[in-house]
Amino acid sequence: MPSVDEDLLTTLIARLDLEAKVRLLTGADFWSTPAEPAIGLRRMVLSDGPSGVRGESFDERSPSLSLPSSTALGATWDPDLARRYGSALGAEARRQHADVVLGPTINLHRTPFGGRHFEALSEDPLLTGELAAAYVEGLQAHGVAATPKHYVANDAESERFTVDNAVDERALHELYLAAFEPAVTRAGAWAVMSAYNAVNGATMSENPLLAEPLTGEWGFDGLVMSDWGAVRATVASARAEQHLVMPGPVGSWGERLVAAVRDGEVEESVVDGKLRRLLRLAARVGALEVAPTPPAVPAAEDGAAVARGLAVAGSVLLRNTGELPWDASSLGTVAVLGHNAALARTQGGGSATVRPAAVVAPLDGLRAALGEDRVRYRLGAQVAEGVQPFDPATVTDPVTGEPGLRAVFRAADGSALRSEHRLGASLIWMGAEIPDGAETVEVSARWAPEPGTHRVGAAAVGHVTVHADGTAVLDTEAVLTGDEGPGAAIFEAPSVTGEVGTDGPVDLVFRFRPSGGEAGMALFALTVGTETVVADPQAEVAAAAALAAACDVAVVVVGTSDRIESEGFDRTSLALPGHQDALVRAVAAANPRTVVVVNSGAPVLLPWRDEVAAVLLGWFGGERFGDAVADVLLGHAEPGGRLPTTWPATGEERSVLSGRPTGGVLRYDEGVHVGHRNWLRHGETPAYPFGHGLGYTTWTLDHAVAGPWSADGVAVTVTLTNTGDRAGRQVVQAYLSRPGSDVERPARWLVGWAVVDAAPGTTTATVAVSRRAFRHRAGGTWATEPGTYDLHLGFSVSDTPLHATVEVVGEG
Ligand code: BGC
Repeated sequence: MPSVDEDLLTTLIARLDLEAKVRLLTGADFWSTPAEPAIGLRRMVLSDGPSGVRGESFDERSPSLSLPSSTALGATWDPDLARRYGSALGAEARRQHADVVLGPTINLHRTPFGGRHFEALSEDPLLTGELAAAYVEGLQAHGVAATPKHYVANDAESERFTVDNAVDERALHELYLAAFEPAVTRAGAWAVMSAYNAVNGATMSENPLLAEPLTGEWGFDGLVMSDWGAVRATVASARAEQHLVMPGPVGSWGERLVAAVRDGEVEESVVDGKLRRLLRLAARVGALEVAPTPPAVPAAEDGAAVARGLAVAGSVLLRNTGELPWDASSLGTVAVLGHNAALARTQGGGSATVRPAAVVAPLDGLRAALGEDRVRYRLGAQVAEGVQPFDPATVTDPVTGEPGLRAVFRAADGSALRSEHRLGASLIWMGAEIPDGAETVEVSARWAPEPGTHRVGAAAVGHVTVHADGTAVLDTEAVLTGDEGPGAAIFEAPSVTGEVGTDGPVDLVFRFRPSGGEAGMALFALTVGTETVVADPQAEVAAAAALAAACDVAVVVVGTSDRIESEGFDRTSLALPGHQDALVRAVAAANPRTVVVVNSGAPVLLPWRDEVAAVLLGWFGGERFGDAVADVLLGHAEPGGRLPTTWPATGEERSVLSGRPTGGVLRYDEGVHVGHRNWLRHGETPAYPFGHGLGYTTWTLDHAVAGPWSADGVAVTVTLTNTGDRAGRQVVQAYLSRPGSDVERPARWLVGWAVVDAAPGTTTATVAVSRRAFRHRAGGTWATEPGTYDLHLGFSVSDTPLHATVEVVGEG
């Protein structure tokens, strides 16, 4: 990227008066920054992130690529794939005219209870930092800014706007900041988002950590934007290295900041400094007319193929008794069971949500791969709660007869203001997308369900009525509890339903009047659809087991729902919701060839894991999740992933940390002992350790040589053998320990790894261990303890058959 002409920025800044400068430092609206024609600045569009690019609207008619959740990317352990992930998002952003992507999320998996766990990469700072940096590089190569978020220690959701995280210096620098550092110092991120939470007493939009290490020691020259609504006190935030308030146009700066400058509380040069950063960002993304055009960008790859490949590479085979892979040519009938098999969670909820053109659920993927006649489906156990959008294949627009629905905005007198054909049943209109004077929206569809009795309704906040063939089946007010945060009317809307009995197609009309807006902006948000009701859960489990018994093999897809795993709240239990544990046990008892696919973004408890033939973790696998599941089960591809985070056995182990504040404070008392470091310290055995994952071949680790040292660190050359009869992927992991250290150390810490793709036979790999890996933070700086360090090499943190020692002389 060409460097920015700083003299030009100085000239542009000098052309504006104080009011004009300050106006530019708050968003123009929810998703963009203001334009300033006087200096040739156009608006810049900011878009979530981090696993797709939503664009400015939630409209399904302009769909977005939906990649697997960040946890799946974390499981690849592969910086090349992370670069490709970022690159796919860069191409998406350009296609959607977005200048800034709000990602990657670089918080750590400090606790599996964290509601946004799916959005972050790993429990480990090195793994997180390397993958995040590669993501940023891939994205920014397209001339689109990345926004590593949420700086810093935003590792749980409870009391997320106010919680004060008490983190000691070592944990802060060695873990939480270390995870951000490569994205800034190596990949050169153009923006960073400050978090909602406070750290050690200061809310992050005012926190001294924005100055040091971010803009000082790390030399970050980009823009710090706030998380949405995170800027509070005018003067304190203006004096901090906080540069842009989002969203707008109303915020804590504006006239108040102008007054603070006039009163001498904030120097005008401080305002100029913030504006310089905004203009630098504008120059980088091509939003300044007078700056050179950004360079040519890489060609866009086929996004759906990238999504499928990433889902395969991130899937983790946790257990396999030899059942997998299946040979499609000799496989008989397959029982596919579970709510998530048909209604998969392919992405996390909340602000990360995008609208893909279509998603492939595991049931779809297996049907496509094996043919309809070999695949039999049964729900088995309910997972998703509340209203789920209509399956587009079952609804038609009554006006055009095409698949989809009709939405008509009406004024208070009932007159039609606008009529739209819609492709999906989750409908969100914000701000200018809503016609002036609209009071209600009326959504109608001709619906052709299976004959029977159904719960039909909406998830929304406001007044909802439903008519079926002209008869009222629902007339109610749907309300929030009041405990929810911003975005609740979109992401946490309550469900209201009425009963509809059908033996053929029925004409449905939903009328909705919203009861409020979002952040001062008008909002119409409703999902229309059906709610699954299982009258007799035991009978449903028994029916699923009977189907499994009648088939040759069984696949049970288990997972979470958006009511228990999403943004805005933490989980209260790691158990699978509903009767899913009973379902797996019953199916495994009925058919020994039972394979379980786990569809969650974060650890869940698998108490039956030793009773089934195989367990495949697919995370929230993106829009091609089901194809990837079929690819892996049928052995067309190697399940490439390794756990980026320890999976607990009960969730009650001492090693599992809490994300719940006490008296407004969340104490990170474990210090540097997070994740596998904590499990080793407590001597507890998880369900599956950090770094674990199987493939379809077998390996031995033969020997390792550490050295020589270079300016960067020490290279470890490892010899390993693929002892099976097919090519495969292995991740050779290197951990250090330092028995008898003078400083408190983790039992062992990850210092490097190599991703190896190899045919049968012997091969070598190099694991680069940086000098930083030997350093610890002491007295405000980095220090190295000289002497002997033990190096442990293996295929997970608890499977390290090779050992070597590394001598560190002097300051390393
Ligand atoms: C989330 C951010 C997101 C922003 C805009 C906030 O509530 O914490 O991650 O980028 O909303 O959607």
